[in-house]
Amino acid sequence: MKHLKQRIALESLRAQFHLSEDRLKEMVYFMIHEMHQGLAGRPSTLRMLPSYVYRKNISQAEGVYYALDLGGTNFRVIRMLIRQGKLISVAQSAFVVPKEHMEGTHTGLFSFIAGCVLQFIQEKGQEDMKGGAQRTIPLGFTFSFPVNQASVNEGSLIKWTKGFKTTGVEGNDVVQLLQAALDKVNVDVRIVALCNDTVGTLVARYFSDEHTQMGVILGTGANACYWERSSAVTKDGKVAKEGAKETVINMEFGNFDSTHMLCLPATPFDDAIDKASINPGAQRFEKMISGMYLGEIARQVLVSLSKNGLLPESVANGLNKPYKFESRFSGQISADHLPGLFATKSILQSNFGVTIDKTEDLFLIRNVCVLVRNRAAQLAGMAISSTLLKSETTGNATVAVDGSVYEKTPSFRAVMQKTIRTILGDESDVRLVLQREGSGHGAGFIAALSA
Ligand code: BGC
Repeated sequence: MKHLKQRIALESLRAQFHLSEDRLKEMVYFMIHEMHQGLAGRPSTLRMLPSYVYRKNISQAEGVYYALDLGGTNFRVIRMLIRQGKLISVAQSAFVVPKEHMEGTHTGLFSFIAGCVLQFIQEKGQEDMKGGAQRTIPLGFTFSFPVNQASVNEGSLIKWTKGFKTTGVEGNDVVQLLQAALDKVNVDVRIVALCNDTVGTLVARYFSDEHTQMGVILGTGANACYWERSSAVTKDGKVAKEGAKETVINMEFGNFDSTHMLCLPATPFDDAIDKASINPGAQRFEKMISGMYLGEIARQVLVSLSKNGLLPESVANGLNKPYKFESRFSGQISADHLPGLFATKSILQSNFGVTIDKTEDLFLIRNVCVLVRNRAAQLAGMAISSTLLKSETTGNATVAVDGSVYEKTPSFRAVMQKTIRTILGDESDVRLVLQREGSGHGAGFIAALSA
């Protein structure tokens, strides 16, 4: 009897999570609509932010540039040597942003970052500071949050995402805040470019493949950018007057359809996560596809099945802490094809002290993780297809993607690619490529084109 009930429960979950071709296409229409609205400055859940990065001859990029990549709990300082648009050598250091600075004041956060830049230069950039050869080092700053840019090196934070709460940054120019902190520690560095991580990822790939049409991040957060005709950006006269020249637009697609939830397939589990989050009502699309939330969605489903007697009680008890069932666990479980679902069993046992013996229970747990993963990958594929349709580049496009969800979740890429083919047809030629560390390198390249 329990087995039958489990099958019925799984069917009902499948009906909620699996997206049919028709459903996906409805979302595509709405996303394209929101893109148009956002570009025109009309109300839209897509911010469609200008980056002030324009298509240029990349061979002009030349010299030593620094990049700083802040997008989550880790940030990196990078030194790049570029010759005729080619990256010749890279040195970098990674630092962890202490929680106190994610939730503290802007002075705390930016002085900490400036201190790390100073340390990096002392360790790896001595030659840039030497007597006669000294020059002000140009730096590109990747800041992976929604920013209203006024030029390539000015922009104020609209709203924190991904768990940051640092005060005094929203509404202020992050370039000025960082520059002031750098000046205070006396490093001779000038911020010449500011960009989103999606923009960095697109530009980094563009330097080796001119068919790169989009930059996408599927990691802790999720977002995309793409090349758009400047004249289409009618909300910003400065950009629109550039006419046919192409420019990069940061979509901030994580917020898609958040206002009225007209087409997103939100389940009661998604609603509960949203309600308990630090930004309820915002980033609803991101909350269905990014690494910060995928494990939590699966956890909510598993706990509810357990509370309804469809999984052992130990599941609800062992997984009772929000966000402890991380996306890497749900990702690994979703790919478990071992006999007796051994991987599922051992992940639950060793991380949560939950012992499950019955194969049908393990099977249900695995399939819940598959449903959550596949919906995320379908939604990501839908967003990419919409953007390529809007920019009329479905024929020949490279899409540069980075982020832990894309890189590390088994089968994620395959489901995305299949969804893109379903929406755009077999004749479309869309290549998803992993662009590791593009966000930081892209900022260095943009700095080189802007300095
Ligand atoms: C931010 C975006 C960023 C994305 C990926 C989102 O939460 O709003 O600006 O590109 O995360 O890092």
